[in-house]
Amino acid sequence: MTQDHPEGTMRIGRREFLGVAAGATLSLAMGVWPAARAATAEPNKLPPLPYDEQALAPVISAKTIEFHYGKHHKGYVDNLNKLIAGTDLADLPLERLILSIAGKPEKAAIFNNAAQVWNHTFYWNSLKPNGGGEPPVVLKERIVNAFGSVDACKKELAAAALGQFGSGWAWLVWDQKTLKVMKTANADLPLTAGLKPLLTIDVWEHAYYLDYQNRRADYVQAVLDRLINWEFAAKNLA
Ligand SMILES: [Fe+2]
Repeated sequence: MTQDHPEGTMRIGRREFLGVAAGATLSLAMGVWPAARAATAEPNKLPPLPYDEQALAPVISAKTIEFHYGKHHKGYVDNLNKLIAGTDLADLPLERLILSIAGKPEKAAIFNNAAQVWNHTFYWNSLKPNGGGEPPVVLKERIVNAFGSVDACKKELAAAALGQFGSGWAWLVWDQKTLKVMKTANADLPLTAGLKPLLTIDVWEHAYYLDYQNRRADYVQAVLDRLINWEFAAKNLA
């Protein structure tokens, strides 16, 4: 399995998601972030799951969520807090922190943990029980304009998810003109390229190995058909 346990990380506060305009918009759309940042730096916190651990079963089991959310996601939060404790970065909202250190090799450990905190929170919100189906009208129009059909969009997302060699993420993004599908490696995310994420699929092995072993394609297809949260994407687009 992929080596993806955070090492030496720890805590991010909640302040993180606020501050950057685009970030604030996403934060509100995600509905899980505090509306305002604390005046003094607090450790970053693991946001609550938007549903129960068993709510995505049988597509994603409670056991996978237990480890993925309770160990991996929490680990990134804890590692981040450890790495930034007592530094200026501890005062920054998460998105601003991520953008301020992106591309700086000496800050790679902090970037990786911070980005993974953001990515995972975004991922949990990109899924929902009884998801899939038809996107809301406005989003569907954009999808049809960009890809030809919802099925074609799903195929592009699946191709990105399967085409990502090793760990990473598949994304539906908005580039201020049209919708696009992209993939990123490891902890990287579209924000650093100035793109607005609408939804994501985690393709790190920890996301699916307990349930699907090496069958990433089956995991991705099941997520697209049964869990993907088009309403979340539509809110982010709006
Ligand atoms: Fe993950």
